[in-house]
Amino acid sequence: MRMELQISVCLTALMLTIAAEEKPTNTVSVSSSTATIQSNTIQKLIKILEKYGLEEQRGLKRVYLSNRSITCNDGSQSGFYLRKSHGSKRWIIFLEGGWYCYDHKSCRNRWLRLRHLMTSTQWPETRDVGGLLSANPEENPYWWNANHVFVPYCTSDSWSGTRALPNDMFSFMGAEIVLQVVRDLIPLGLENASSLLLAGSSAGGTGVMLNLNHVHSLVHHNLGLKHIAIRGVSDSGWFLDRAPYSPNGLSPVDVVHKGMELWKARMPHNCVNKYPNEPWRCYFGYRLYPTLTAPLFVFQWLFDEAQMSADNVGAPVTKQQWDYIHKMGDSLRQTFENVSAVFAPSCISHSVLTKRDWQLVKIDEISLAQALHCWEQIPIGNRRNDTRSPIETNQPCAKSLRKLLRSGLTKGNGTSFEPGRSGKSDFMAELQKVRSSMIGKSIERKISSNALMQDRENKKRKRRKHKGKRRDRNKISKMKKEKHERRKSTGRRKGNKQNNDSNHTGMFNGTRPQRSVIPSGKRKCVQGCHFRLIERCTWPQCNHSCPKLHNPFTGEEMDFIELLKSFGLDMKSVANALGIDIQTLNSMDHDELLNLLTQRAN
Ligand SMILES: *[C@@H]1O[C@H](CO)[C@@H](O)[C@H](O)[C@H]1NC(C)=O
Ligand SMILES: *[C@@H]1O[C@H](CO)[C@@H](O)[C@H](O)[C@H]1NC(C)=O
Ligand SMILES: *[C@@H]1O[C@H](CO)[C@@H](O)[C@H](O)[C@H]1NC(C)=O
Ligand SMILES: *[C@@H]1O[C@H](CO)[C@@H](O)[C@H](O)[C@H]1NC(C)=O
Ligand SMILES: *[C@@H]1O[C@H](CO)[C@@H](O)[C@H](O)[C@H]1NC(C)=O
Ligand SMILES: *[C@@H]1O[C@H](CO)[C@@H](O)[C@H](O)[C@H]1NC(C)=O
Ligand SMILES: *[C@@H]1O[C@H](CO)[C@@H](O)[C@H](O)[C@H]1NC(C)=O
Ligand SMILES: *[C@@H]1O[C@H](CO)[C@@H](O)[C@H](O)[C@H]1NC(C)=O
Ligand SMILES: *[C@@H]1O[C@H](CO)[C@@H](O)[C@H](O)[C@H]1NC(C)=O
Repeated sequence: MRMELQISVCLTALMLTIAAEEKPTNTVSVSSSTATIQSNTIQKLIKILEKYGLEEQRGLKRVYLSNRSITCNDGSQSGFYLRKSHGSKRWIIFLEGGWYCYDHKSCRNRWLRLRHLMTSTQWPETRDVGGLLSANPEENPYWWNANHVFVPYCTSDSWSGTRALPNDMFSFMGAEIVLQVVRDLIPLGLENASSLLLAGSSAGGTGVMLNLNHVHSLVHHNLGLKHIAIRGVSDSGWFLDRAPYSPNGLSPVDVVHKGMELWKARMPHNCVNKYPNEPWRCYFGYRLYPTLTAPLFVFQWLFDEAQMSADNVGAPVTKQQWDYIHKMGDSLRQTFENVSAVFAPSCISHSVLTKRDWQLVKIDEISLAQALHCWEQIPIGNRRNDTRSPIETNQPCAKSLRKLLRSGLTKGNGTSFEPGRSGKSDFMAELQKVRSSMIGKSIERKISSNALMQDRENKKRKRRKHKGKRRDRNKISKMKKEKHERRKSTGRRKGNKQNNDSNHTGMFNGTRPQRSVIPSGKRKCVQGCHFRLIERCTWPQCNHSCPKLHNPFTGEEMDFIELLKSFGLDMKSVANALGIDIQTLNSMDHDELLNLLTQRAN
């Protein structure tokens, strides 16, 4: 119980840390002082500045909303941070995350502990945001040059509230803020934009889904700016309203049910029409998604820490907890059935878009940034049908973007590919036996402490970050190189649907994540456009492009093999299965071993 509490607190703190990660830098914006210079000159200039590390000084600048009565929880004036890019007609509006509060008690607690998420009184003049909002081409290859808007979260309402008159001391105007930000940006350049990407992480990810139709309608209909292509990106905001693990506390459904009234939420009409008696169901992505009027890209970790925390499952210490978590991953996977653009790695983590190392996460060698970029290139044709067509693009690498388009994507003709069925080799069967011997009681405990350590480590990293960005960047490129080396000959994994839903012991017995036997040479498809990537292996952390877990005792990063070993992987059986002696095995390079264990099936 104490463990659960602890991890809960940790997770909360983690999310808040992520949300409030970046520290201000008090500097001048280069781009605004070069307004008249042509864009390629600016790019050159930026490249040069970047060489000297000066790009970090181009922070986003604070702008308060023109309507003073649209406020944070405490009545302080709300606003956003802006970095204009005069060479670009692309705009990104990013909604920050950080949970929510839903009644008198939870809001009071939030006020006492997390006041910075309820007021603008301490907002710095500038902010520096990573990942999708970074101005560094290395960190953000596709959007570094876009117009960046960061909207701090200060309304605790998942960006859905319209309560202006204080209730219980607080107002909740998240939905009003989103629309006002858009209105205020029009004269600042949004008027002539070619595209607007509404993105957000965590509660901000949910906020994207809740506000997408309203933003779409405001821009296209109220303001008549139909030339602006509107799209949404929801990061870690796609939650499930399944029964929580433990009945202690409120379920996610109860929470939003209560919150909706407190916040005086403005819900998307189309969805409410679908759930007239339970409008709060519309906070859940898979229910809301079919009613969206603009395309949405969904990023979600299959084992999202916020979901686990909301479900009261706590740190997984028992088999029951693991079973629950595993089912959670399965259920989540199922909700993506009809989602045309989705990126879902099989990791235990939370949020990604503004993390500086966001490019490291990959599925089938495709990074989130690449998938997102490719998805963004698809013209918004018949929008209504676009978001509803089930389009598989991550399956056998045959179809390029052009082929996809030709095959009727824009006409809304869903194209579905089945992954190539490949027989299981003897080796795989053997490996399964080996894996059968890896069961150990210690598994659960180990993992939980790993997850916990990771949270701590993440936080430490965050704290360190603003001191040593350069060092971080070096580390990132080093990690990239290492990853690249490690991955040279990786193949794809094949889905392994749990064969018995009522008993998930299989997770620890024989039905471990399997890799398919498709030789990597046969599936070169670098040019393809892939934006429906759902990790096929079902074991949390089964992929080593997951954010690292950490050894609870040394704090050092653990790779996949170490993780397996810590679960009690029997090296002798492995040696037998591979047909080598134990000495050879022990002296074997970890990466080689990993390849043997996971790919060699052919
Ligand atoms: C400012 O916002 C409030 C609350 O949404 C609204 O009632 C009011 O009309 C707005 N004022 C202006 C000038 O738009
Ligand atoms: C948009 O473009 C038009 C025509 O070039 C220009 O007159 C107008 O000032 C621009 N709007 C903004 C907000 O820059
Ligand atoms: C996907 O669409 C089909 C056909 O409309 C529907 O039967 C199915 O329930 C949908 N799946 C999900 C997860 O919404
Ligand atoms: C897992 O990681 C490897 C890199 O080692 C990557 O090639 C692969 O695409 C990832 N995803 C899956 C589903 O295996
Ligand atoms: C798709 O678009 C066609 C018209 O192009 C329309 O008749 C049809 O109802 C749409 N389908 C859905 C599911 O909205
Ligand atoms: C959809 O695509 C399939 C296969 O490409 C084709 O047979 C079918 O006629 C198409 N349907 C429509 C409505 O275009
Ligand atoms: C799943 O397990 C239950 C009980 O453990 C058993 O009754 C059922 O037959 C199993 N189903 C399959 C498909 O193995
Ligand atoms: C699940 O399977 C294991 C071993 O096969 C068995 O010991 C356990 O009782 C089963 N649990 C349920 C709920 O069927
Ligand atoms: C593992 O699976 C095998 C057969 O699939 C079964 O005989 C064995 O009892 C299982 N062990 C556990 C601990 O569930």
